[in-house]
Amino acid sequence: MTLCQYRRFRPCDGASYDSGVEVLNVFGGSRLQGDVTVPGAKNSVLKLMAAALLAEGTTTLTNVPDILDVAIMAELVRRLGCTVAHDPEAGRISIGVPAQLNHRADYDLVRRMRASICVLGPLLSRCGEVDVALPGGDNIGSRGLDMHVGGLLRMGAQVLSEHGYLHATCGRLHGARIWLDFPSVGATETILMAAVRADGVTIIDNAAREPEIVDICRMLVDMGAAITGIGTSTLEIEGVAELQPVTHAVVGDRIVAGTWAVAAVMTRGDVSVHQVDPDHLRIALEKLQECGAQVSNLEDGFRVQMDRRPLSVDVVTLPFPGFPTDLQPQFIAMNAIADGAALVTENLFEARFRFVQELARLGADVRTDGHHALVRGTTELSGAPVEATDIRAGAGLVLAGLVAEGVTTVYGVGHIDRGYADFVPNLRNLGATVERAEDSALF
Ligand code: EPU
Repeated sequence: MTLCQYRRFRPCDGASYDSGVEVLNVFGGSRLQGDVTVPGAKNSVLKLMAAALLAEGTTTLTNVPDILDVAIMAELVRRLGCTVAHDPEAGRISIGVPAQLNHRADYDLVRRMRASICVLGPLLSRCGEVDVALPGGDNIGSRGLDMHVGGLLRMGAQVLSEHGYLHATCGRLHGARIWLDFPSVGATETILMAAVRADGVTIIDNAAREPEIVDICRMLVDMGAAITGIGTSTLEIEGVAELQPVTHAVVGDRIVAGTWAVAAVMTRGDVSVHQVDPDHLRIALEKLQECGAQVSNLEDGFRVQMDRRPLSVDVVTLPFPGFPTDLQPQFIAMNAIADGAALVTENLFEARFRFVQELARLGADVRTDGHHALVRGTTELSGAPVEATDIRAGAGLVLAGLVAEGVTTVYGVGHIDRGYADFVPNLRNLGATVERAEDSALF
């Protein structure tokens, strides 16, 4: 396969962790009320674990979420030659990075978690060579890698795609000016991690600005990297010879926090969400205010109160600081029971509307056309069996189940486990009636 074919590469659906029998039974009708604490962000911790590879010695991460993807990433770095001490209950992981790393990330792990691609930059920087299985597309879209590869080529790497693997080599990477066509989170991270130890200065224009990018930049700076423009769309990185291991606390998960906020609105509840920066969710929280919710800042988070049926609200997904695509399914679920009609536009992942077919099984009225979805609110959803096709679709379906009449059985629980730590206990603490069960009807 040639490089220009990356965007069309779609292997089998690699992201299926469904045990086939485990389900979530959600009993509709509860009002969520109380406090919930958000763990570190999935989309940060995985990259921080990869960034640890850049420095020999032991890097420790705290505020680590207890989710399946962290376990997969831990296995990946172990296979690269690291020692990993993971204490899920304490939310702590220590990665002992040796002087010599293996440079191959195998398909059996990459197919389970496409974020494994984030070892590309660090391994190339440390080993001068890397083989990473191509992750392909998944249930939310085709998910190209052209910008990752284009950036590395500009920095002097040679990159080949053969037999399902991306093979990259370099003598030494050198700095370059790199303009991204789109502020891709993953491409920004790959180039950033390749650039911190390269010769000279790298400038990434149109870089992603997500809080998770800021988090990795902060950790890299603590490790000794020279990065300016953090949090802006131009990152300037001056390569240094060596980085040092550090201890770093993972930024709070704004998507998990946003999921709780939407749950509060849908159930006409009152939920205080802790250990997250509300500025990381500004647009989403303002949208909830437009729906009629009261949102107030807390010292370490925010509180959402709602006492009526929400009003519909239009949403357009965009890179940060725009509305996050990872909250789009939850907002569709909310609009499905809202007063009025809403137009939801998805600009990042072309297949993210797939889940509306499942939502329709609960009685939602959603019509999609390309990257737009028209959601007409209905006063009542009715419980039914549904299938989660990805993490956020799973969250959206559980939220819909909370307000549907009767029982909603959500299959594909493994997807939810990838991103939501202690989802069921947290829901229960807030007053929901939900259980994790074996689906005996199948056998
Ligand atoms: N894209 C390309 N070529 C590239 C890179 C990206 O065409 O070289 C396209 C993608 O196909 C997609 C768009 O650009 O259409 C955005 O992709 P981006 O690279 O920004 O996303 P990502 O790094 O693959 C991360 C999160 C996603 C989150 C997006 C956007 C991780 C592990 N994943 O993905 O999280 O939706 O950024 O914020 O960090 C989730 O948590 O459920 C999830 C999907």
